[in-house]
Order: sequence, then C-alpha cells, then structure tokens
Amino acid sequence: MAKNVSTLTLRKYKEEGRKIVALTAYDYSTAKILDRAGVDIILVGDSLAMVALGHKTTHAVTMDEMLHHAKAVTRGVENALVVADLPFMSYQVDVTQAISNAGRFIKEAEAHAVKLEGATDHNLNITRRLVDMGIPVMGHLGFTPQSIHGLGGTRVQGRTADEAIKLLEDALALERAGAFSVVLEMVPCTVSRVISKKLKVPTVGIGAGPDCDGQILVTDDMLGKYVDFKPRFVRRYANLDEISTEAIRQYATDVMNRNFPNDQESFALSKEEEDELIRRLSALAGGRN
Ligand code: KIV
Repeated sequence: MAKNVSTLTLRKYKEEGRKIVALTAYDYSTAKILDRAGVDIILVGDSLAMVALGHKTTHAVTMDEMLHHAKAVTRGVENALVVADLPFMSYQVDVTQAISNAGRFIKEAEAHAVKLEGATDHNLNITRRLVDMGIPVMGHLGFTPQSIHGLGGTRVQGRTADEAIKLLEDALALERAGAFSVVLEMVPCTVSRVISKKLKVPTVGIGAGPDCDGQILVTDDMLGKYVDFKPRFVRRYANLDEISTEAIRQYATDVMNRNFPNDQESFALSKEEEDELIRRLSALAGGRN
C-alpha cells in the first residue's frame, strides 16, 4: 500500500498504467476509513454542501465551512493526498482572493492541494500563481457543479465534436498552467479517452467512463448513505441508508423495551459504597422525619 501519496506518485501511476483511486470525505472518521483502505486522493469536495449540509446545490457552502471540514479530514489521513475544493466565489473575485483562500487550506487545514472548476483565463492565471508558490492545483472540467445554472442543469458536457475539442484545449491549458491532475465530470467515454491520452498529467473521471487515469465518486453516494438522488454513474457498494435505519430502529426498540443498556454497558458502585450510600440515604430520610 502506498505511503504518502504525492502529486509525483500520481504522475508515476499514470505512466505505469496503475489506476488512481479517489473518493470524497468531509469528516475525520470517514477520512480514516478511506486512508486505511488505501485510497490515493481524498477530496474534501464542495459536494459537502449537498451531502453533509443538505443544500440543493454546491453554491451555499462557505470557505469557513470548507475549512472546518478540511481540518477534520486531514486529522484522519496519514497516506493519501488531501485535495480541498475551493468553494463557489472563493476564487472567482480576483487573484488575491484566490491565493488567500487556497493558502488557508494549506496553512490552516494542512491540505496538500486545492481544486477549482473551469479553465477560464482567470483560473489559468490563478493556477500558475498557486503552482509558482508551491500549492498544487487540480483542475475540474466537463460538468462543473458551480456553473450548474449557467450550464442549464446537470448535463453531460462535450457531446459534440466542437465541445469535445474545447474540453481538450481546456485540459491542455490547465496542464500547461501547472495543474497536477484534471477531474473530468460527465463527459462521453471517447472524449475522456482522448483527453487522458493527450495529457501527461492524470485525469480522474466521474461519469466519464473507464479510460480516465483514475476514478472518483462521492463516498456517501457509493456507500448508499446519501440517497436524495442517484446519478447514473454511481455504483452502490453498500446500502448504509437501509442498514443505518434498521440499526437505529433496533436501538429505539431496545431503549423502549429496557434492553439497553445492560450491566456490561453500565458502571456499578462497589458493594461497600452501595451499602454506605443506602445507609446514608436512610439516615437522611430518617433526619427529615
Ligand atoms: O465536490 C465534489 O465532490 C467533486 C467531485 C464529485 C469530483 O467535485
């Protein structure tokens, strides 16, 4: 199992044809499980706005909320590369804002890298500046959830040859700007295959077919814990929603039937202290009469 995954490790994996395994985490205990299982990249995704905070889109999550979760995740990770998502409007305003917020993820949360969506001139400039100052940047192309309203909804991107060429150019531009990897979300397989072949840095796909250099899913989706909706590209490996509901029902039944807690789950007084307590309580009761 790999120790201390770095951006160089990921590049090596691509060269060796070893697929990269990535998942999201928003808290300490989940991050620990992922890290122990050998996940290469743990993304503190802004999907936490929906999955952990119950919003309808990723827009509402703030930089402070992202930091709070990123700090918890890094405390649980020993080996994986932790990437923190720059949330909506934390990097779009100007370069100074972007640098300062990316810096907070590295300095305050001890994340290893940041991710941003899209390949506008502004984003490419930010990427160059961050990489120059030693902050690794992951790009994100295709369906970019922070632009959901501009894109007209959750839709596959790169469906025409024109759009596919534009995606390829954007990916190459991100690579030239210094991005160490690019997430491709909801793009047709042929398009992600072409992009993955043309890039030297690894692509990590979500809804982008099998030929990306790695795969990422939202952990709560693949564990069947977040069930508000299930995108077509999600494979469920567990059904934590059902398992948890059943466990909690069982707990409720045990509490109501006085089956929980039992002696092993409780703390007892020693026999002497119990006798002494009873003696004193009856003395107190006697005094009151
Ligand atoms: O926020 C997120 O979880 C993401 C992944 C789905 C790539 O950006």
